Amino acid sequence: MEIQVNPIAPEQRRQPPTDETKLGFGKLYSDHMFTMKWTLDKGWTQAEIAGYRPLSMAPASLVLHYGQTVFEGLKAYRTESGKVNLFRPLENCRRLNRSAARLDLPQVEEELFMQALEALLKLDREWIPRSYGTSLYIRPAMVATEPYIGLKSAAEVLLFIITGPVGAYYPEGFNPVRITVCEEFTRAAPGGLGSAKTAANYAASLLAEKQAIKKGYTQVLWLDATHRKFVEEVGAMNIFFKIDGRVVTPSLESSTILSGITRDSVIKLLKNWGANVSEEKISINDVLDAQRNGRLQEIFGSGTAAVISPVGVLEYQGQEYTIADGKTGELAKSLFEELMGIQYGARPDPFGWVKTLD
Ligand code: PLP
Ligand code: COI
Repeated sequence: MEIQVNPIAPEQRRQPPTDETKLGFGKLYSDHMFTMKWTLDKGWTQAEIAGYRPLSMAPASLVLHYGQTVFEGLKAYRTESGKVNLFRPLENCRRLNRSAARLDLPQVEEELFMQALEALLKLDREWIPRSYGTSLYIRPAMVATEPYIGLKSAAEVLLFIITGPVGAYYPEGFNPVRITVCEEFTRAAPGGLGSAKTAANYAASLLAEKQAIKKGYTQVLWLDATHRKFVEEVGAMNIFFKIDGRVVTPSLESSTILSGITRDSVIKLLKNWGANVSEEKISINDVLDAQRNGRLQEIFGSGTAAVISPVGVLEYQGQEYTIADGKTGELAKSLFEELMGIQYGARPDPFGWVKTLD
């Protein structure tokens, strides 16, 4: 399918922000967006890039009532020589399709997804910030637009991609974050939606996050819904523990955790470095025992928005534990530098993860 490109008039173009130290995360949107419609009868049609604008849909649209929506998050990085890099973008398309399958939404062709990204970035290249640590966040999303108040799988869907310049995700920047273990609520149960990147998981997390912030923490560490014992992930990132020189991260077996692309990259990098890394069930008590015995060396999270985010403080059952003296650990620092180095084209890319755009 041909993508219709209808750029906005030059005089309508806005000026991307010049002070890249104040970008924050998710507040600014570039000039253009991609849209494409799907119907059960015709499949995908009307692929178009045009100006960033409000969407129009019926108040009876399924997504507004029953939450049939999935999304993705990836970034475009500007290299020192001015080129534009994407990091493992096909993995985002594949995960979008896995999430869509779980919500009974349609599949998107990988080639078309890539064409849409490339055409959009070509048009809004000026919106990709230049400073190290900043990037253009890309948000593809699929929503069920069919107007129908009865509950059903959608026969009309909209896919859109918007983008916007971002800096660090957390208010701490890339410094250690303070995290609290949530005991009252859970994020996802076995057989549910936890491994899909869908709105419901994030909606389920917000009250706990608000309570965490009130207590002075940035994010919530979720435990498994069945036993309230095993560590799952943090609101917007996967989690790693370094204990006695061994790196462990919760396994994906439970299907309640998002299969992070950064998580997978961290595991592959660590294996490549010869580190001892494993995916397994890990209980919060094992983590805290290790902390009490002085065996817990580091905790860090991984995610597209969060990159590598060290955890400086962990709270559980009213007790606060300071991790690695509240500082960024050596491993988190090495992974942060290696990952960013690869993403910004400053270090070799042995796994072929980077897609450089012309
Ligand atoms: N877990 C959750 C709940 C997330 O929202 C994210 C962010 O996308 C991640 C983990 C990390 O995934 P990725 O590394 O693919 O960005
Ligand atoms: C991402 O890291 O890309 C995410 O989607 C997390 C989101 C909560 C901003």
